[in-house]
Amino acid sequence: MGCCSKGWMPLLSLVLSSWLLLVSMVGCNPPPDPVHCTVNATRNCTITNAYGVFPDRSTCKAADVSYPSSEAELVGIVASATVSHRKVKVTTRYSHSFPKLVCPDGEDALLISTNKLNRVLSVDYVDGIIVVESGILLRELIAAAAKAGMALPYTPYWWGITVGGLLATGSHGSTLWGGSSVHDHVVAVRIVTPAGPEDGFAKVREIDDSNPIELNAVKVSLGVLGVISQVKLKLQPMFKRSLTYSVANDSDLGDEVITFGRKHEFADIFWYPSQQKAVYRLDDRVDVKTKGDGRYDFIPFRDTSSFLVYILGVIEETQELTNDASGKCVQGKLFTSSLVSSAYGLTNNGVIFTGYPVVGFQNNVQSAGSCLDSPEDALLTACEWDPRLKGELFYQASFSVPLSNVTGFIRDIQALVKLEPESLCGLDKYNGILMRYVKASSAYLGKQDDSVDFDVTFYRSKDPMTPRMFEDVLEEIEQMAVIKYRALPHWGKNRNVAFAGVIRKYKNYTEFLKVKDEYDPSGLFSNGWTDKVLGIDQGGVMIERDGCALEGLCVCSTDSHCAPSKGYYCRPGKVYKDARVCTKI
Ligand SMILES: Cc1cc2nc3c(=O)[nH]c(=O)nc-3n(C[C@H](O)[C@H](O)[C@H](O)COP(=O)(O)OP(=O)(O)OC[C@H]3O[C@@H](n4cnc5c(N)ncnc54)[C@H](O)[C@@H]3O)c2cc1C
Ligand SMILES: *[C@@H]1O[C@H](CO)[C@@H](O)[C@H](O)[C@H]1NC(C)=O
Ligand SMILES: *[C@@H]1O[C@H](CO)[C@@H](O)[C@H](O)[C@H]1NC(C)=O
Ligand SMILES: *[C@@H]1O[C@H](CO)[C@@H](O)[C@H](O)[C@H]1NC(C)=O
Ligand SMILES: *[C@@H]1O[C@H](CO)[C@@H](O)[C@H](O)[C@H]1NC(C)=O
Ligand SMILES: *[C@@H]1O[C@H](CO)[C@@H](O)[C@H](O)[C@H]1NC(C)=O
Repeated sequence: MGCCSKGWMPLLSLVLSSWLLLVSMVGCNPPPDPVHCTVNATRNCTITNAYGVFPDRSTCKAADVSYPSSEAELVGIVASATVSHRKVKVTTRYSHSFPKLVCPDGEDALLISTNKLNRVLSVDYVDGIIVVESGILLRELIAAAAKAGMALPYTPYWWGITVGGLLATGSHGSTLWGGSSVHDHVVAVRIVTPAGPEDGFAKVREIDDSNPIELNAVKVSLGVLGVISQVKLKLQPMFKRSLTYSVANDSDLGDEVITFGRKHEFADIFWYPSQQKAVYRLDDRVDVKTKGDGRYDFIPFRDTSSFLVYILGVIEETQELTNDASGKCVQGKLFTSSLVSSAYGLTNNGVIFTGYPVVGFQNNVQSAGSCLDSPEDALLTACEWDPRLKGELFYQASFSVPLSNVTGFIRDIQALVKLEPESLCGLDKYNGILMRYVKASSAYLGKQDDSVDFDVTFYRSKDPMTPRMFEDVLEEIEQMAVIKYRALPHWGKNRNVAFAGVIRKYKNYTEFLKVKDEYDPSGLFSNGWTDKVLGIDQGGVMIERDGCALEGLCVCSTDSHCAPSKGYYCRPGKVYKDARVCTKI
């Protein structure tokens, strides 16, 4: 083991230094359209997500796709789907959600892409309002607001997502100070839904705060209420932020986490549990006159050399194959220290990093994603997770633990690390655990309590029957979060297990279902997955089959749900004894 990890070291350092150098030197490939059609580019289609694989590895099909470029055209498309009782799903520019939200049921289904619904309709500085079409990318929304001297205060950190898509899954930034999610800043929505013959089979509903029940439903809709055509958002006057990353020992993280979140408006934490390290983001609003033109081009969202991604994938596969835990630990430290020393991609002026604090305009530091840019090349570079690079495959678990329980959750993870010190080293390749602050929301499917959201990205084998190293530890953390600590999963991330019985965690979900029945009584916009998570289909989200627990499709209840032939059996958790996890014996 030791010699193996040493063997990789020179290569790794080379790879890492070129990672930091090569990025942004060559052109990149924008991610592909997730809809692929074999007949006339619009018929006989398959739809996937940005990673090219859903949690259950199935493929989704549709009869055809349409690309409306106006609301009027959209109404016509929804009307004809209603008349012919066709299932419909809305797809976006890149399709970044993990679960099967975008899959229509049945091969006769229709996809409506919002690619051509991507305009800014109006900007009003006096009232602080912007109106956009739903297919606009977060990046364009941020830019249009900034051009008018305004800003969205809290947004996702990745700007390659659309307004329609990010609202549907309740996407958020990080703050305990005000609404942390984009939907908390929505003041009105126009949504096209099916309708009866008296309305011509489709209608546009304009929902604002004069109708709070419907507004609370459409803000976070999982896409099951109809097609959102336009969104009106409340903005703030442009401001600057002053940002410092501070590396600390994580031994008091459980005690510090809440105080820290209350102290800094844009606080978040990168947590590297196996290194006993937490990197605190001290990030606050400052006057626009404060000197500084900082930029945040977050390194993991830059275009990355396909060669590098491929090599890193091979290294990771080899480490898994040879059980090289200590190799992962050495590599993890290297990744973290190179990110810390390059300030995660922050610069003080768009060119170099000269020291903290970095002061910059909100639009230049709030979100990133330069791997989306540049024209197509021969696939020399792309976003790191682009499936065409054949590099890494990973899961992303993301759950929000209520503030009242977050200290206990952190201590339980630390107790697990104490028992298995090398078990979480593999996370550091994916920049550890990202902890963000999220506020309770009035949206029916939004967060129910002020919480800390934990983003955990981890290795997934290309072979569904092959367990991960320390398979049991991440399964235990996942179950601990959603069962013991009542966490809510992010609707756009996670594996099936995180969604078991989830709808009962939302106090007012019946209000949501009433609106759904009114807007789309035949469930044309629903699919098997949304019916299950919403509790309409009582069958539940678990898929029980051999090896299902390895893929997060079930919680194991028998050994065959794990991989007994490879020595992995279904056993209780080590810290959370009620967990059932695949343990190597
Ligand atoms: C690299 C990366 C970083 C991320 N960072 C964050 C983050 O910082 N914070 C966070 O909260 N999340 C984050 N996410 C998750 C992401 O925000 C969600 O998955 C989001 O839903 C993706 O938006 P999308 O436009 O790709 O929508 P899709 O995934 O394509 O669609 C999501 C759902 O919305 C529906 N939908 C889309 N448009 C419409 C419309 N106009 N009308 C009705 N329904 C519609 C779709 O049918 C589908 O059901 C990240 C994801 C990635 C890949
Ligand atoms: C494909 O498009 C061409 C030209 O627009 C048309 O003539 C043809 O019938 C189409 N084929 C199918 C199978 O729809
Ligand atoms: C439709 O797509 C499938 C793959 O999804 C392919 O096998 C089939 O040949 C296609 N049909 C036509 C008519 O192109
Ligand atoms: C963190 O602090 C604890 C307790 O003070 C100490 O035992 C541990 O060695 C420290 N870890 C690191 C990585 O410095
Ligand atoms: C979570 O917090 C609630 C409210 O404070 C408390 O009643 C419950 O015991 C906590 N759960 C755990 C597992 O700590
Ligand atoms: C649930 O919805 C009803 C009706 O909109 C509202 O009166 C109530 O306050 C809501 N409850 C919660 C907990 O959000």
